[in-house]
Amino acid sequence: MPHLQDSWAVTNGILHGKLVAERVKAPIRQQTALLAEQGITLTLAVVRVGADPASEVYVRGKVRACAEVGILSRHHHLDATVTEAEIVALVEELNNDDSVDGILVQLPLPRGISESRIIAAVDPRKDVDGFHPLNLGQLFSGRSLLEPCTPAGCMLLLEAAGVPLSGKRAVVVGRSVIVGRPVAQMLVRADATVTMCHRFTEDLGACIAQADVVVVAAGVPGLIRGSWVKPGAAIIDVGINRLPTGKLTGDVEFEEAHARAGVITPVPGGVGPMTVAMLLWNTLVAAMLRRRLGMPRPAAQAWSV
Ligand code: GUN
Repeated sequence: MPHLQDSWAVTNGILHGKLVAERVKAPIRQQTALLAEQGITLTLAVVRVGADPASEVYVRGKVRACAEVGILSRHHHLDATVTEAEIVALVEELNNDDSVDGILVQLPLPRGISESRIIAAVDPRKDVDGFHPLNLGQLFSGRSLLEPCTPAGCMLLLEAAGVPLSGKRAVVVGRSVIVGRPVAQMLVRADATVTMCHRFTEDLGACIAQADVVVVAAGVPGLIRGSWVKPGAAIIDVGINRLPTGKLTGDVEFEEAHARAGVITPVPGGVGPMTVAMLLWNTLVAAMLRRRLGMPRPAAQAWSV
């Protein structure tokens, strides 16, 4: 049995993102309560454009999570026919609103709207997604104060499971700006030897078979065959795909991969809750830095149990 030893975050080789996310959220809740005693209420503004059904579900989850930790959220839902200039105008209004600590523009935006123009319009100090070119640039040259939520969540999952990274072979599947590219940078920063695979990669199976750590964010159900997995490897499945049956599934053949992996994240209940937890963390960081209150206590302080 190649499974990692059981711990608070791992049972029978399954890495419970939901449990890890709770440990991230607990200190955030405490710190927002302390700030509330000083009369400071944190506010996250969420901008959603159009009627993408997945975005609707994600935004609902983010708004609910804010309420759980004492962060106010404001949901701005714009019609799909809105112009790029109108979205920029809303973002600028939120930039200038002193009561707003964080701004999140849910992606994807409708066809014809330049996502990069909208993201660049967000005040980098309020960029809780960590997608602004300034924050991404800082990530690529070392460390940014506001790092993209899903990649940061993947790294915390690996840390919570005690997966060694230094000198190990890591394979990232998918090269998006939201997940693949930033998580590859974070793995490099953790001294892993990183290979990036994407739709043009020849013999993906051969790459996966060498990997001690796999992070897959391709959006293709079952792309990663269980038989490819190196025995004992750590598998982080970022994919969230809805099958025609209505069932949610990741990018990995779960049962077959679980039989070989040291540890694997489930879908749902793996990376998804971590993305939301890191968004709350970034909102706390953005709020405290903008108000010159210093950095909050790290989310991962409660780890080493
Ligand atoms: N769409 C898919 N993932 C994300 C995310 O992390 N942030 C935003 N804003 N949109 C997304």
